[in-house]
Amino acid sequence: MTNNIEHVLEETRKFDPSEDFVAHSHLKSRADYDELYSKSISDPDAFWGDVARELHWFKPWDRVLNADNAPFFKWFEGATTNISYNCLDRHLSTPRKNKAAIIWEGEPGDQRTLTYHQLHREVCKAANAFKGLGLERGDRVAIYMPMIPELAIAMLACARIGAVHSIIFGGFSANAIVDRVQDASCKMIVTADGGHRRGAVSALKPTVDEALPNCPTVETVVVVRRGGNEIAMQEGRDHWWHDVVGPASAVCPAEELDAEHPLYILYTSGSTGKPKGILHSTGGYMVGTYMTSKYVFDLHEDDTYWCTADIGWVTGHSYIVYGILANGATSLMYEGTPNSPNEGRFWEIIEKYGVNIFYTAPTAIRTFIRWGDEWPNKYDLSSLRLLGTVGEPINPEAWMWYHRVIGKERCPIVDTWWQTETGAIMITTLPGAMYTKPGSAGLPFFGVKAAVVTEEGEEVDGMHSGLLVIQGPWPAMLRTLYGDDDRYVDVFWSKFKERGWYLTGDGAFRDKNGYFMIIGRLDDVINVSGHRLGTMEIESALVSSDLVAEAAVVGYPHEIKGQGICAFVSVPKGITPTEADVQKLRDHVAKEIGPIAKPDQIRFTDALPKTRSGKIMRRLLRDIAAGKETTGDTTTLEDFSVLAALREESED
Ligand code: WT7
Repeated sequence: MTNNIEHVLEETRKFDPSEDFVAHSHLKSRADYDELYSKSISDPDAFWGDVARELHWFKPWDRVLNADNAPFFKWFEGATTNISYNCLDRHLSTPRKNKAAIIWEGEPGDQRTLTYHQLHREVCKAANAFKGLGLERGDRVAIYMPMIPELAIAMLACARIGAVHSIIFGGFSANAIVDRVQDASCKMIVTADGGHRRGAVSALKPTVDEALPNCPTVETVVVVRRGGNEIAMQEGRDHWWHDVVGPASAVCPAEELDAEHPLYILYTSGSTGKPKGILHSTGGYMVGTYMTSKYVFDLHEDDTYWCTADIGWVTGHSYIVYGILANGATSLMYEGTPNSPNEGRFWEIIEKYGVNIFYTAPTAIRTFIRWGDEWPNKYDLSSLRLLGTVGEPINPEAWMWYHRVIGKERCPIVDTWWQTETGAIMITTLPGAMYTKPGSAGLPFFGVKAAVVTEEGEEVDGMHSGLLVIQGPWPAMLRTLYGDDDRYVDVFWSKFKERGWYLTGDGAFRDKNGYFMIIGRLDDVINVSGHRLGTMEIESALVSSDLVAEAAVVGYPHEIKGQGICAFVSVPKGITPTEADVQKLRDHVAKEIGPIAKPDQIRFTDALPKTRSGKIMRRLLRDIAAGKETTGDTTTLEDFSVLAALREESED
């Protein structure tokens, strides 16, 4: 961490947007940003009211922000709207009617384009089909799907009728589905037989089937045929999408929903306990994702925008579907992996569709670097005008590569900091308005009061890192943790309770020009390839195996993934672990949570190092995991007794 700070302090490279870029961008100077930012802070009600009026409301609000019951904030109180209407119907009476809303490319190379008119029809049909299956306003729906248009259609159909979707990333295991479906008492699951990944069909419905015996609230399962793999269908409960959506009516007026009507739940890992169900509501989230999409990605009518995230993560919710379609832009969606059939696939797609704006993750960029410049160099990338990254800190080397090899030193890079909880981008540069600096996210977005403070809440001056806080509410913020208001208050708002600040959980520092550099999580959360995993969840998964007495999981720097997962495992007395046990445990974690949580290293030990008070010495374990290059398939038992004795003083 310290190294990282020193590194960026020394970073003197700055890149101004080209004259060409500025000539066409919404914001053209730092003064443009400053003016809007200060208005957004000095009079947030007027500012957000103006933004909201660019969208459709069935009934206007009485109040922009109601903070009477903080931190249970209400935005656009009294108003009714519908985000599905704003993403679809709003465009149908404009020249966008026949514009591509979604351009989709399947991994095998099949393609589909849905215009706004066509997407609207499909969404209406799906909404009617869901209603016909008994879905009502407020009901929760789990969605476990590959990256196919029906995923976006299902989301927009739920939003249209006021059902609350809970998307579960297609890489999660049956157990992860059970936890999430149970927590939200979902009534329906929308899935597919399978999807295409890495040149093969990866099954989804069988995983849902494995989860269903433990999901008593689920009455209906809707299955899209995509993989063509053989699956079981249970009469009365399971329905093919084409059987129910196909014949449904294409007329389905959007429900008038309260601005605070819940839109979706998305589970994210924390350092303790079960995954947190982040709850987002309708009006504020709509305004926040609309506004950030427009200015951060500088969206224009003729843009083809591509975000490579999976819709199973928040990035896909906000910046493949809601924010992008609310702007009437064209969103490209790709089903598969970047190296199928070869490492040039992403660049081929950019060339094929003339992508102008490309938004991806640092972990992907580091992978591209490893694959070699020859892949992007084979394709015509001249359509690109803007690049973005999200998910984790980007190291300046990777930033420079992205700038040089993909952006041809022509395209601004927006390094966007935000979280599942924030719903929308919070810290970034705005591409026409300001310079970028490798490794720095930039400045707060409109309406965001970001600060770096000490444990005591004192503002930290330059050169020192501290806690990143947001000093007040913003429209797209989470509203609570589903079913757990106390935990919501406790996790995010209790540390600086009197001041009413939101604790992000990240460390950051600011340079002398006010640019924020995000260091990473300060809690026991590991950021693997831009996705947050709680150490505690992985530990519980490990401990549920007979081979494990106790487990401690820590992150360590990983060249591609940002952070790797290292598990220190003590075995029950009498067991001597073998090489095969390493694989067994990795598979066990994959089964419990999903392959993304598989430890990169498993290290067996007789006992975990602990302080006199019995706390596991994580700092010691982190150092050890970071220091030693092991491949993960070593079964040597580590002896911590000496080290533990040495370090005990400092940890107590
Ligand atoms: C955590 C949020 C928000 C979409 C994807 C991840 C880290 C996110 C950046 C960035 C440095 C970043 C933070 C944050 N993070 N973007 N541009 N620079 N760190 O969503 O799973 O909710 O994770 O990702 O640590 O707290 P998430």
